[in-house]
Amino acid sequence: MAERTSAPLLRERFPTLAHSTYLVSHSMGAAPAAARDALERYMDEWIADGPEAWNRWLPRIGEIADGIGRLIGAAAGSTFLGPNVSVLQAAIATAIDFGGKRNEVLYEALQFPSLTYVWKEWERYGARTRIVPSDDGRTIPTERICAAINERTALAVISHAYYVSGALADIATIQARCREVGALLCVDAYQTTGVVPYDVQALDLDIVTGGSHKWLCGGPGCGWLYVRPALVERLRPAVTGWMAHERPFAFEAAPIEHARSMYRFGHGTPTIPGYVIAQPGHAAIAEVGIERIRERNIRLTTRIAEEALARGLRVNTPLEPEKRTGWIGIDFPHAERAYHELVARRVFLDYRPGCGLRVSPHFYTADEEIDRFFSELDEIRSKLPT
Ligand SMILES: Cc1ncc(COP(=O)(O)O)c(C=O)c1O
Repeated sequence: MAERTSAPLLRERFPTLAHSTYLVSHSMGAAPAAARDALERYMDEWIADGPEAWNRWLPRIGEIADGIGRLIGAAAGSTFLGPNVSVLQAAIATAIDFGGKRNEVLYEALQFPSLTYVWKEWERYGARTRIVPSDDGRTIPTERICAAINERTALAVISHAYYVSGALADIATIQARCREVGALLCVDAYQTTGVVPYDVQALDLDIVTGGSHKWLCGGPGCGWLYVRPALVERLRPAVTGWMAHERPFAFEAAPIEHARSMYRFGHGTPTIPGYVIAQPGHAAIAEVGIERIRERNIRLTTRIAEEALARGLRVNTPLEPEKRTGWIGIDFPHAERAYHELVARRVFLDYRPGCGLRVSPHFYTADEEIDRFFSELDEIRSKLPT
């Protein structure tokens, strides 16, 4: 492993790390101290300038969106912001015609539940959902997903990594299959963006969604959407509002003339505070670089998996680093009780049914935090019923 990534990076910029063992960046990245400064600046601008503050806030939407775009290889102007992934995917749903023979939306059985709610509800508006099953609750063969995508598929919605196992989906092959049959692909990259390098243009992806509060260390309130530029004008969301109009400040009556830019995926007044506090996290990821983050993450997740296996615990994440995102799922009897006990001891991680403890290092994680996690875990397990 290269020497330069063996030490934690930028650790001093994340105050939470001084008083916790932080192994939960797959769920909630640590807060950068600079996020507080960004929020204070927002308040100062609002207090100083009232409505005129919009002149400074509005351009920041595009800047923050492009900052995310740079992390995923997107061209400037092809990424946009929204409150969360569920709303952004719901807006995509309204932009797709499910009225003809091509009326299926296909997703995999390991999809994040929130998105299954969105797509299942779309049956009320003519979509037919099709779910690709998993045999082991952790992975789904790529061939099975590709075989399920056909001329009836309007849209395939696929997680880049499954929230329940961390296994990566082969989105390059799935995108190629979608292209072959004329379906669109929407990738939910929440579990990978900021820890697994990928390039939306190299992969020629159609639509990608994600958010800021996990690996991007941006806190809640800054979801994002990438759309392949050639596709943008084909999509006219019905979840809309004045910000999505080609001339928002002309305040013209309906019908809307959708903006030709990514603003067409906007809706009403944008939630500026959620966006501005996210930017320092995005900047930290850019500063460290996702290749470096991945390199260090692989070293530490490999260690976590090996230590768990050495204790006879079940590892629910692929052992091959190239098949997983940035965390390890560890299961054992009473794992949920252990989770509560660990959090009470300020060892931050999470628990998901069917997966067990989800444990993740990030660029700021010290090796000693992993030592502490295992020593606390050993102590807690020694007191659990067998
Ligand atoms: C795979 C995946 N997608 C999406 C989300 C979040 O969706 P939303 O932004 O709608 O809360 C999560 C977790 O919070 C997730 O793990």
